[in-house]
Amino acid sequence: MRRILEHLGRSVPEPAARKGAESNFLSLRAEAEKGFAENMLPMTLIKILRPVKRFLQRAKRKLLSNSTIRNLRDELNNEIEFEDLRSHEIMLADAIRMNAYHAAIRRNVNAGDVVVDLGTGTGILSMFAAQQNPKVVHSIDYSKVISVAERIASENHFGNIAFHHINSRRFILDESVDVILHEQIGSALLNEGMVEKTLDLKKRLLKKSGKILPGKFELFLEPVCVKNDYRIPYLWETRTHGIDFSSAKDSPESEKCKLANYNWHPNPRSAVDYFLCDAAPILAFDLNEIGDPTEIPKTMSASRVVRRHGRMDGFCLYFRVIFDAEVEFDTSPFSPRTHWDNLLFRSESRQWHEGDAISYTLEIKDRLDIESWIVRVEGGAPGVCPSDGQMSGFRVK
Ligand SMILES: C[S@@+](CC[C@H](N)C(=O)[O-])C[C@H]1O[C@@H](n2cnc3c(N)ncnc32)[C@H](O)[C@@H]1O
Repeated sequence: MRRILEHLGRSVPEPAARKGAESNFLSLRAEAEKGFAENMLPMTLIKILRPVKRFLQRAKRKLLSNSTIRNLRDELNNEIEFEDLRSHEIMLADAIRMNAYHAAIRRNVNAGDVVVDLGTGTGILSMFAAQQNPKVVHSIDYSKVISVAERIASENHFGNIAFHHINSRRFILDESVDVILHEQIGSALLNEGMVEKTLDLKKRLLKKSGKILPGKFELFLEPVCVKNDYRIPYLWETRTHGIDFSSAKDSPESEKCKLANYNWHPNPRSAVDYFLCDAAPILAFDLNEIGDPTEIPKTMSASRVVRRHGRMDGFCLYFRVIFDAEVEFDTSPFSPRTHWDNLLFRSESRQWHEGDAISYTLEIKDRLDIESWIVRVEGGAPGVCPSDGQMSGFRVK
């Protein structure tokens, strides 16, 4: 201790004071050692766990590059997701969805029909169908929620519904079916396996004169201007208070960022300011007309004339569900809100003028995995970013 204090150029205290200083020093050292030991353990653990985590991430990526394993994972996730009653509460509270299905079932399910409800959930569509006096409604679901559906149907005195706790792919029947009812509509229309699941049942069970309800769908991908206060530029587009990030464009991280352009905004519906072009579907199909999922293209392209000039920040994805000539709804950000909301695909901001043509493509590598959906667009002048001043909504007191 004496040597340390001398080394530090401090005066060596007299014996009594020295005793106090020594015990202070010892308690400080004990505390420091304790703190060091407490920090060491997590630091050592992190050192060990970091490569383990990287290894697991690589192994997961490798496993999921196999489409059969990916499909199994998606089915399992789907089954577990729909065990949770909250997901059903959200769907039942969506008045646009419920009114459309109710009206369409009343118009399209007839007395004496054999109906299959693919993915019955709480049984709501089966109960709507059962009110039409069909021969029978077969309600299928692979999730445990089907026991709730069965109880509700019994308490509401429906005797003509048969419940099957099974995956639709393994469901067989000894009679053919007049109507396949379903609501397998994902947030990006195709990403819940709707096409694959309904066409599988259609091939095996549906009468030639039978129908899939709903059958017609349109997918929209509209160039949009995002409201200034919602806009999130790419890092290399960012200019703030005189700091220029443009050199970030050439970094390898930016390449990954450019491709992962899906759903970059937490609140896409509120973010959309306006469409630059007149909306038109980039894809339209009728499940009643096609026989195999491969008939739905995986690459789509569009060329649209700009009707309202301005900055394009990305694309808004939404869809229209058409039950028949009179019943339909859509999920456009300018239509009444449904629980599906919208998705935004970001592009670098570009300035377009009235009469310009915007050409773009949507490539869907894996229908079930929206992160593999890539939107590409060419042309346009670099976008004009709102300046710092324009965006300021604060006061300096
Ligand atoms: C979006 S929810 C719709 C529930 C209900 N039809 C409605 O409109 O409220 C989809 C339901 O389909 C079930 N499902 C999805 N794929 C299925 C399959 N291949 N076989 C059986 N059930 C399935 C899920 O467990 C879930 O309950």
